[in-house]
Amino acid sequence: MASVLLALGLLLLLHRRTSASSIDFSQRDHGICKQFEIPVCATAASAIYDIPTVTNDIEAAAWAIWDATRDTPHSVQSIIKNTTVSGTFNIHVQLCVPKTSEQKDVLQIATHGVHYDSRYWDSAYEAEEHSYVNAALRAGYAILTYDRLGVGQSDKPDAYTVVQAPLELEILRQLTLMARNGSMYDLAAASGPIDTAFQQLGKPSKVVHLGHSFGSFLTSAFIANYGPLSDGAIITSYLLTEYLANAGSTSWAVEYPSMSCPPYDRPSGYVVCSKVGIQNIFFGGDPATAYTPALLDYGNAIKQPVPVGELASAFWLLGNYGPSFTSPVQYLLPENDFYVCRGDCKGLANVTTLAQTYPNATAIEVAIQPNTGHALPLHNNATAGFQLIFDFLGRHGL
Ligand SMILES: *[C@@H]1O[C@H](CO)[C@@H](O)[C@H](O)[C@H]1NC(C)=O
Ligand SMILES: *[C@@H]1O[C@H](CO)[C@@H](O)[C@H](O)[C@H]1NC(C)=O
Ligand SMILES: *[C@@H]1O[C@H](CO)[C@@H](O)[C@H](O)[C@H]1NC(C)=O
Ligand SMILES: *[C@@H]1O[C@H](CO)[C@@H](O)[C@H](O)[C@H]1NC(C)=O
Ligand SMILES: *[C@@H]1O[C@H](CO)[C@@H](O)[C@H](O)[C@H]1NC(C)=O
Repeated sequence: MASVLLALGLLLLLHRRTSASSIDFSQRDHGICKQFEIPVCATAASAIYDIPTVTNDIEAAAWAIWDATRDTPHSVQSIIKNTTVSGTFNIHVQLCVPKTSEQKDVLQIATHGVHYDSRYWDSAYEAEEHSYVNAALRAGYAILTYDRLGVGQSDKPDAYTVVQAPLELEILRQLTLMARNGSMYDLAAASGPIDTAFQQLGKPSKVVHLGHSFGSFLTSAFIANYGPLSDGAIITSYLLTEYLANAGSTSWAVEYPSMSCPPYDRPSGYVVCSKVGIQNIFFGGDPATAYTPALLDYGNAIKQPVPVGELASAFWLLGNYGPSFTSPVQYLLPENDFYVCRGDCKGLANVTTLAQTYPNATAIEVAIQPNTGHALPLHNNATAGFQLIFDFLGRHGL
């Protein structure tokens, strides 16, 4: 009997390990998900930046000090040569659709931030409390999550000269065009295993863009430059003020993701947070009530290395003027976001200033999620935070 129980325990453990390391769990209480690859053709401006090489732990920490040094430029001043990048990049996506009776005919496209991949939106740990994907399905939305270029199961081209912000913006545009013209749903239907839920999908009538952190940089720039392609936006954990990133990249406590150490095996030019770095950036609020040690462990277990060229080029995404955006946008700020607000987001957002960036937005609203750090889904009160998003969308017919 004892050995049977032991074997059962081991099986459960193995099962949990598998489901934590790969997110291929397709059947959900409120919908169904499918993962597949999309070859995305994209051409974008790129550049050779004057940035240090990172090939070991010492160079990784030295990169962070360099990046956080007060007179290191984060602008066109760091460009040695302007170039163009062009290619077909394989992007790993997960498309989830709600059960038909509950469907809203709105697709959300969610872009994750740095240090993570698409699993940020779809926690395998206590999924009912912490998976945004499950919450979106429950609320009746279809949702596309994807691994940005350079992370997860997507292509990992050169970390200095290829994985850069303008190319990622173009990839988001291509994914959006494919979602809007139905070709993405056709790809989902054609990729195995065949499931009837994906065979009868028309194209979505509305597309909402959602971002977290660097994914919010991308989403903000996307709606600014391509306003007519978005029917609504949710900007989480990002606000452009003097406090953004002024904790500096040294707070990430980075190491070099060794080639001999899966899942962090990367070529030159990547840095990866140590666990204390993950806590510094992503966890906040009262440690006794805001999150649990298990959530911090999970947040550390799913971290991803970050390509340095992406960070050198991030400035292109900030503060883009967006008069063509004529839809509603919500800023959802964790109260205790350390990296964005130096630990206190209350009172920092000024809707008048935001309206100068998006003068034709039909609504601009700001919500603060209390007792929560940068990684909103990985805090105890995550589901109530998700609900703020669905309430906003519902108020605006989405
Ligand atoms: C690269 O292009 C940007 C703007 O497109 C320009 O401001 C910058 O001076 C250029 N840099 C070089 C080195 O050509
Ligand atoms: C849909 O958009 C994608 C991305 O721009 C494009 O490659 C594809 O040809 C389009 N398909 C149709 C059917 O219009
Ligand atoms: C948006 O606002 C700008 C300036 O406020 C105006 O010139 C423009 O015509 C408006 N509409 C669109 C769709 O850009
Ligand atoms: C918001 O910004 C506007 C314009 O910059 C300024 O006049 C106003 O005082 C600010 N409001 C608050 C509450 O800080
Ligand atoms: C949980 O979040 C909701 C929505 O922001 C908020 O109203 C509520 O007070 C929060 N609960 C706790 C215990 O922080």
